[in-house]
Amino acid sequence: MSTHVRLGVNIDHVATIRNARGGAVPDPVRAAIIAEQSGADGITLHIREDRRHVREDDLFRMVEAVKLPINLEMACAEEMLAIALKVKPHAVCLVPERREERTTEGGLDVAGHHNHVAPFVRQLREAGVRVSLFIDPDVRQMEAAQSLGAPVVEIHTGAYCEAVAEGDQARAARELEAIRVAAKDGAARGLEIHAGHGITYKSVAPIAAVPEVRELNIGHFIIGEAIFVGLPTAIAEMRRHIDLGRSGA
Ligand code: PXP
Repeated sequence: MSTHVRLGVNIDHVATIRNARGGAVPDPVRAAIIAEQSGADGITLHIREDRRHVREDDLFRMVEAVKLPINLEMACAEEMLAIALKVKPHAVCLVPERREERTTEGGLDVAGHHNHVAPFVRQLREAGVRVSLFIDPDVRQMEAAQSLGAPVVEIHTGAYCEAVAEGDQARAARELEAIRVAAKDGAARGLEIHAGHGITYKSVAPIAAVPEVRELNIGHFIIGEAIFVGLPTAIAEMRRHIDLGRSGA
């Protein structure tokens, strides 16, 4: 089993704070540089249609300033595809997006929207961008991801993390089992397995312990912790929990 689980730090919510007042601070690019210096393995950002957090100029500045792989989350929309093809980040994660949602509420239904998703996967792959599909822990979605030719899937961990946060151990155990089963199925299909959404210090270790998981993308909790302890400490502490989970401690 690969021991190092990569940690992608999502800096969207630094931009959320900036946007609360307009202006230029706090700068999400500065956060990405600090994350790079603090042991992050990648930087993740989500350009939404409504630009509620990062914007194109943040992405352009980010690729100039940061050497780490950049993972751009985006909806299957022509506007976003044009941005991605211009910037050619290391990776694009295709996510569902609804204007009224507070955050990405469920995975992309790649099984139900195969024909809509297919040209996005194809064009990004042709441009040399590593494509991942953000899906629920569901074997049917794994099968569809494989048939779409995406090399990577990111499993939505929101339901599991919510159960952990609510202290509902039975539901957390069921949701974790669904993640385990889906990860195993996906890896057997040749997909690289990532996971993310809603992860905290409390929920991360069992996900990091899933042997097929190679990368975790974590944002809201790390940025929230950073308010109290600073970004380097929050990242180091998350790294410690990931490594503990992976080692089975
Ligand atoms: N992965 C994906 C695909 C996401 O859309 C998000 C939220 O933008 C995350 C991971 C990070 O979730 P959180 O901010 O809850 O850690």
